[in-house]
Amino acid sequence: MEPEPYLPYFDASSCPSSSRWWSRETMAVVTGGNGGIGYALVKRLAELGVTVILAARNREKGEGALMSLRAEGLVHVHFLLLDVSDPISITAFASAFKAKFGPTLDILVNNAGVSFNELHANSVEHAETVMKTNFYGPRLLIQALLPLFRPNSSNVNRILNVSSRLGSLDKVRNPEIRKVLEGEKLEDEEIEEMVRKFARDVKSGRWKSRGWPEYWTEYAVSKLALNAYSRILAKRLQGSISVNCFCPGFTKTCMTKGQGIHSPSHAASLAATLALLPPHLLPTSKFFLLRSSTPSRSHLSRL
Ligand SMILES: NC(=O)c1ccc[n+]([C@@H]2O[C@H](COP(=O)([O-])OP(=O)(O)OC[C@H]3O[C@@H](n4cnc5c(N)ncnc54)[C@H](OP(=O)(O)O)[C@@H]3O)[C@@H](O)[C@H]2O)c1
Repeated sequence: MEPEPYLPYFDASSCPSSSRWWSRETMAVVTGGNGGIGYALVKRLAELGVTVILAARNREKGEGALMSLRAEGLVHVHFLLLDVSDPISITAFASAFKAKFGPTLDILVNNAGVSFNELHANSVEHAETVMKTNFYGPRLLIQALLPLFRPNSSNVNRILNVSSRLGSLDKVRNPEIRKVLEGEKLEDEEIEEMVRKFARDVKSGRWKSRGWPEYWTEYAVSKLALNAYSRILAKRLQGSISVNCFCPGFTKTCMTKGQGIHSPSHAASLAATLALLPPHLLPTSKFFLLRSSTPSRSHLSRL
């Protein structure tokens, strides 16, 4: 899976309002919207004129984030509670969205994520939570929200999964796992089995010798699963909803203990451009990478 250069001739920030495909009617959901890249993305999308649902698992943090945005004059932002690791919370979120806004969703950004790794260390102790949050959560949320996407939209509904290059196939050293994930006819069940196999290897203490990614292992496997699922989903939803992934690169957030090569707003500004690509430039089943050598541009690889 080699990255293919992809430089959309489009920048959401400089797009004049007369040629924007989106408006205040356009509805975006951003998960994990209370902090880091998620908060910066909610802000950017709202500044660009989209109505945004800031989803956060902690009411206090979510409402605090909403107040900060409103204080900056961004009134078209709403808060809804959502813990993506909890299926009951996902169901409640979908019901609340439906009751308040109906089937009007245009853009879903699965941004919420966790890592329990120190920067130069590795961890597998939190594999279950990481898998629930970074893989099962987005998958369940997508399934719950699919009926709430705007029907018959000419603007192409879209899902952007915030992933990581740490979950690239080239990080997997086990040839059997790679072969399964590279398969053209990859099935949901094969991804499930891969995740279960990882859990078994962690439990038996044999994960080091089984060829799983060496760096940020549990996190990398969760993003590997998310990328693989995104590829299946893109195929399944071809023609109705575009599904892409995005790696924001090494960004200064809580997840990296404030280290990184750029700010959350920089990463968010690119994420906003990708989320707002005009229908004729919007691909599906692609993996956008923000490269450190060309920080203002995105590159794209096949999922
Ligand atoms: N920072 C990087 O260098 C980097 C690189 C590649 C990819 N990413 C990805 O970028 C995304 C955003 O990460 P970030 O760097 O902005 O990290 P962050 O500052 O730690 O923010 C993570 C956000 O996700 C939320 N979250 C965590 N678990 C959740 C759950 N169960 N339900 C709902 N929300 C939950 C957090 O909420 P709380 O405040 O309540 O914890 C927070 O709002 C993640 O998917 C991450 O994997 C980041």
